[in-house]
Amino acid sequence: FVRALRSKGRKQLSPPGPWSFPIIGNLLQLGDHPYLTLMEMRKKYGDVFLLKLGTVPVLVVNGMEMVKQVLLKDGEHFAGRPNMHTFSFLAEGKSLSFSVNYGESWKLHKKIASKALRTLSNAEAKSSTCSCLLEEHVTEEVSELVTVFVELSSKNGGFDPRNAITCAVANVVCALCFGKRYDHSDEEFLKIVKTNDDLLKASSAANPADFIPCLRYLPLQIINAPQEFYRALNGFIALHVQDHLATYDKDHIRDITDALINVCHSKYAATKTDTLNDSEIISTVNDLFGAGFETVSTCLYWSFLYLIHYPEIQAKIQEEIDGNIGLKPPRFEDRKILPYTEAFISEVFRHASFLPFTIPHCTTADTTLNGYFIPRKTCTFINMYQVNHDETIWDNPSLFRPDRFLNENRELNKSLVEKVLIFGMGIRKCLGEDVARNEIFIFITAVLQQLKLKKCPRAKLDLTPTYGLVMRPKPYQLQAELRSSGRFLTQ
Ligand code: HEM
Repeated sequence: FVRALRSKGRKQLSPPGPWSFPIIGNLLQLGDHPYLTLMEMRKKYGDVFLLKLGTVPVLVVNGMEMVKQVLLKDGEHFAGRPNMHTFSFLAEGKSLSFSVNYGESWKLHKKIASKALRTLSNAEAKSSTCSCLLEEHVTEEVSELVTVFVELSSKNGGFDPRNAITCAVANVVCALCFGKRYDHSDEEFLKIVKTNDDLLKASSAANPADFIPCLRYLPLQIINAPQEFYRALNGFIALHVQDHLATYDKDHIRDITDALINVCHSKYAATKTDTLNDSEIISTVNDLFGAGFETVSTCLYWSFLYLIHYPEIQAKIQEEIDGNIGLKPPRFEDRKILPYTEAFISEVFRHASFLPFTIPHCTTADTTLNGYFIPRKTCTFINMYQVNHDETIWDNPSLFRPDRFLNENRELNKSLVEKVLIFGMGIRKCLGEDVARNEIFIFITAVLQQLKLKKCPRAKLDLTPTYGLVMRPKPYQLQAELRSSGRFLTQ
């Protein structure tokens, strides 16, 4: 394929790229940190180049201008998803995020899902002073998280916050999707949190059958494990959705599942046209559940690591919180009055770039990019990490410096914030950006309002990520102490 593509050179130039081995292609050259290797290759081949991963040709796109070309200007031509083995398990090809079927019915699917998410996250809070249901769920969970941090710290001194964070975020997602929260020690809940973790590990950039398709027929654990984990997760979600279908009341929307049923029923009633059937509703809930869980909890795990690594930054955020909201429980609208905290979150997104690539894209038609011919069905990797560390955009990109996002009046420089590429852009842009930004803000401000986080004495912190679809930091421990007794707030 690559040779054929390159031999078109005389008429239609194909992108440059490194020489590749038979069968494995350039797979072994990628190393432990592929986004860095691809940044190195960019120095030789430019913003657009072609690799072979296994037997699959992969177009790699770097540089803000080229990324905008692919995701915005020529977005329709690059909006597909490749036919990868791991993705094929997900919702048996019906997934909104991973299905190869791009077209009018996919567009309708995304529209319905985003409408349901919007309806629900703006829905009125049940009982508190919160502005909406999402804010209420997040506020409840962060209050529980603070209690768990204090308990773990007084019991063990140092502790790894990973599990507590994951449970808190998973609970926000469960509350959003099924109107239900779980106790952190509930067995069904812990099983589902673990299955999600196993699924991510099993499908994270490590499945050789994604790039050497003939391997998908081998009965090997590494190749087929994602399917097993996915079935377990889907079973859990299907049970909840079926229960909702049976008890749904259009005048009482409890959660996203109800909101989706509502959008689909009213659309069908109004137009009798295409909408989602019940199994598509299940797969959509599955998409939102999966996407809203690992991303947000990994972001918080990184954030707490940066906060103990840079105590002076933590102190500045606390000073901003104390001076602007005091002991009042933080709300989404406070994002406007805490610019340094917002700058910190943007710097975590940029510096950690814990989603180094978007989900892989695929061309939907023959097209050209930067003067090169790109055939239909070309798998495309967008290197967001490179854009977030590009020296032509960022002054000293390897430094962690939230101040870079503030102007001389200490206001947030919004146009710079928009240059951080972590949610993708264009047709395939993340559906949950607003939910995620609001949720992360409340978690960080409510924790820092009440607790001082510290690294354990003599511990060495490592900011190098472990590579995956979502990159986590290496496990670490922290200590949490109440800033003062009056700060233990009931939210
Ligand atoms: C897709 C980032 C949280 C729902 C994506 C993509 C990225 C991303 C990079 C792929 C874009 C592309 O392929 O071009 C993030 C980050 C998050 C986050 C960094 C948190 C910090 C969430 C949340 C939800 C969500 C909370 C839902 C509640 C989705 C969905 C897609 C998606 C449904 C698939 C969109 C499509 O295929 O068209 N996200 N996300 N995400 N995200 Fe998020």
